[in-house]
Amino acid sequence: MKQSNVPMVTFQPGGKSIAAPSHRSILELSAKAKVLIPTRCKGVAGCLMCKIEINDSSAVNAPTRAEELKLGPLLEQGIRLACQTKVCKEVTVQIPEDKLKSIVRKQLERLKQGVEEDDWLA
Ligand code: FES
Repeated sequence: MKQSNVPMVTFQPGGKSIAAPSHRSILELSAKAKVLIPTRCKGVAGCLMCKIEINDSSAVNAPTRAEELKLGPLLEQGIRLACQTKVCKEVTVQIPEDKLKSIVRKQLERLKQGVEEDDWLA
């Protein structure tokens, strides 16, 4: 349920949205939304597993010192650490898929498309 004056964050792929109070990191919000963002360091900018892509850098806090040190030029490409990023206004977060998951998803999409084309021809 959307809370008034609280921005929403949308996680892609999947499209789940959740209210994003400013004191919560995107990593914390993803856990609340039951969206998996990998972590090994539990949110202390130590593992770099929680990389996400932000579509609008003005919608989140400025990069932390830890992000500047660890991500360097990736920051300019919109890459952030979910554990260090907090939402200021409505934003979409892209969670990179691991390679195996990406291959499986694309294969399933091709199969589904093939089934739909077969149905259309029948
Ligand atoms: S959770 Fe480890 S760097 Fe963000």
